[in-house]
Amino acid sequence: MTLQIITGAQWGDEGKGRIVDWFAAQADLVARFNGGDNAGHSVTVGETLFKLHLVPSGIIHPKPVAVLGNGMVLNLRSLAAEVDMLQAAGIEITPARLRISHAAHIITPAHTALDAALEAARGGSSIGTTGRGIGPAYTSKAERSGLRMADLLAVNAGERIFAHVEACNRTLRALNAQPLNPTAVAEELHACAQRFAPFVADTAYESHQTLAQGGLLLAEGAQGTLLDIDHGTYPYVTSSATVAAGVFTGLGLGVTAAQNAVVTGVCKCFQTRVGSGPFPTEVDGDLALRLRGSGANPWDEYGTTTGRPRRVGWLDGVLLRYAARINGLTELVITKLDILSGFESLKLCVAYTKDGKTYPDLPFGPTELEGYEPVYEEMPGWDEDLSPLRDWDALPEAARRYLNAISRLTGLPVRLVSVGPEREQLVENPAYPR
Ligand code: GDP
Ligand code: IMO
Ligand code: MG
Repeated sequence: MTLQIITGAQWGDEGKGRIVDWFAAQADLVARFNGGDNAGHSVTVGETLFKLHLVPSGIIHPKPVAVLGNGMVLNLRSLAAEVDMLQAAGIEITPARLRISHAAHIITPAHTALDAALEAARGGSSIGTTGRGIGPAYTSKAERSGLRMADLLAVNAGERIFAHVEACNRTLRALNAQPLNPTAVAEELHACAQRFAPFVADTAYESHQTLAQGGLLLAEGAQGTLLDIDHGTYPYVTSSATVAAGVFTGLGLGVTAAQNAVVTGVCKCFQTRVGSGPFPTEVDGDLALRLRGSGANPWDEYGTTTGRPRRVGWLDGVLLRYAARINGLTELVITKLDILSGFESLKLCVAYTKDGKTYPDLPFGPTELEGYEPVYEEMPGWDEDLSPLRDWDALPEAARRYLNAISRLTGLPVRLVSVGPEREQLVENPAYPR
């Protein structure tokens, strides 16, 4: 049996979607285990750019079964739009190919309204959420008042939806926000639930079976390590377990499935973040513009879900080493190396300092960044356009030196490097231990 977990090693948007797509060609099952449509995963195949928010990125290949695991929160309206988009692009979406956990929680319009109202109430200290109702949906789950996929199909679904909307309306009124009409919400959820009823399954059992039969199960992380509810830059995080360990509860797999698991950390060759929160290696001005791009290219640093400009900075090797430890990464994939072409020199954060003392690792990880200053190692850049390259040895010496520095800092092999958004724009490391 083979479990491969693909997880974001930074603050999300590392390029997980296109890397999942790469490995999915060989996979039997590709599963999302956390988050909802706050995620935006891009896969570019030829001229077509797929922006996926809920359906696992492996769906573009004909073989793997796609699973929406119990750890997710599902907005069925978004799911319907995404399935329509995929079908219009000629991707087959049948109940045999897309499996939805009966235990996945539902994001209702009341959750989305609450997300907006709570962010407004936070004022200057808002989290900068994606506004997709993620926090309120996980709150309902933890509070044990949430609606699961199976609940929408139960005989008393109407009653439960009414009770849910009434409860959310009380909070909305308290926040001076517009309450919702329970009948309208119930009708919408009912219609969506009927559409997806044939897709509902015991996905924990099916995931287990895939592994038991010797298949390859790819688990596709959403968001990134530093947005994890426990291990990220709390409170500027999302509301789910984004780290590799989230796979076990989020899909319902026993921890013995971790034996010999491949844990792939996807890391952009510089740092980005959307929304509020600390970002020690952040840069601004012309440098930021160069890293972010103007927005003219589809791969420029503007949110796939919200379109917001992403904050950018130098790669933080200390936080990357932290991600390696917290996830138990076995390998790295470095993305967007093509973007660093043309920089005279590159900076890599290799340690922090505080009060004259140097810290190779942050004493309290990313939860305590106050007062710590990055220490940079500066390296020469390169001018060559990397986007046509497919051969490791053809990479400029300076690019290989940069990759080696990341490898040395984390103690991990770099298995793949991406040099453009397109499916084939990847360079495999021949030294990767197979
Ligand atoms: P995800 O959320 O981790 O799946 O990442 P996103 O899809 O939100 O953001 C990554 C962006 O970078 C997308 O626009 C990708 O098409 C793009 N991208 C991924 N890899 C590369 C690369 O190697 N080079 C360039 N130029 N763009 C890339
Ligand atoms: P992918 O899977 C980047 C960020 C938001 C905000 C915080 C909380 O594409 O990498 P939420 O809506 O989850 O309550 O927002 O988390 N965030 C992401 N940032 N990529 C994502 O997903 C994100 N999903 C949430 O910007 O700071
Ligand atoms: Mg994204």
